[in-house]
Amino acid sequence: MNNHHYTGLINKYRNRLPVDDKTRIISLNEGNTPLIQLKNLPNKLGWEHEIFCKFEGLNPTGSFKDRGMTMAVTKAVESGAQAIICASTGNTSAAAAAYAARAGIKSFVLIPEGKIALGKLSQAMMHGATVIQIKGNFDDGMRLVQELSSTMPLNLVNSINPYRLQGQKTIAFEVIEALGDAPDYHVMPVGNAGNISAHWIGYSESAGQQCGSCNLCDRQCAFKDDVISTKRPTLVGYQASGAAPFLRNEMVDSPETIATAIRIGHPVSWDLAWAAQKESTGWFEECTDEEILQAQKVLAESEGIFCEPASAITIAGLLKDVERGRYQKNSTIVCTLTGHGLKDPDTAIAQSEAPVVVRQSVMR
Ligand code: F0G
Repeated sequence: MNNHHYTGLINKYRNRLPVDDKTRIISLNEGNTPLIQLKNLPNKLGWEHEIFCKFEGLNPTGSFKDRGMTMAVTKAVESGAQAIICASTGNTSAAAAAYAARAGIKSFVLIPEGKIALGKLSQAMMHGATVIQIKGNFDDGMRLVQELSSTMPLNLVNSINPYRLQGQKTIAFEVIEALGDAPDYHVMPVGNAGNISAHWIGYSESAGQQCGSCNLCDRQCAFKDDVISTKRPTLVGYQASGAAPFLRNEMVDSPETIATAIRIGHPVSWDLAWAAQKESTGWFEECTDEEILQAQKVLAESEGIFCEPASAITIAGLLKDVERGRYQKNSTIVCTLTGHGLKDPDTAIAQSEAPVVVRQSVMR
């Protein structure tokens, strides 16, 4: 086979991931997503920053979850697991179902009834997962799957599984390769808080530095030979106002937001995310549902990039914090657009003007 054929992030970064030559890799060629520079929006607003979007919606199942799932399912299969389980607001379940199908094992996914976007539900169903809807939210589901996986032969593939973060850290490697160094800021939505922690692991390893995850990480930042950046970025995490435990500084029992992907009140990576914020001298900020939807539309209309509402919170946050001067002048800022807009067509159509209907005779 042609050596240049891209075969997924584990093969690309195998020396920085916990695999060896005997490991059977379960992959759908995830990763290698485009880093797209925004042009029209910064021009229009007179921003002096260079802003890039890492469009994770272009992964095989349409979200960044594929980065973690290739690693988690590869390790599950290596350990002899026949079935995986997760709780999900939608994207994790889609990725778990797809990678389980690829591996030839079973998947069980718990989702909050009526609170996940239809595109995501259709994916889990099509890939043959056993879909269990619960009368509760993601946090209730998370408690359940932790209980179930501790008593049954089910491999838990939520981001509490450290292999998920190992896969997701590769986003930092790709950004550094594309820009030649780490950006000044890296901005992302925060829900269960695994992704911000994974970004920090990736950037820390790339700069040859320790990070707050070291005690949980089996690699102990053993990559001193793989230093590829001179610095680490400041991390900024945006949360929906109705589901913002990091802003309230305590868990939120009844989270609510139109951005159902991040409708989470009890993030499992609480400590890791605080460590990432503190070590990177970053911050958390919140955006309302209105601001999120407006940003989703602005990005789609002005740049041709259609991401899901949870991802658009990065743009909503920038619109607020750049105007306030919270980002230092002339910075390079990368936003992780975590999922594709096609995941949630209902929300997109509901906020758009209905198409005009004309009789064919009028067209002639
Ligand atoms: N953006 C999207 C599109 C997501 O699906 C998620 C999480 C996040 C952001 C937040 O990432 O949890 O690592 O802080 N979705 C999970 C799921 C919870 O079940 O699909 P996080």
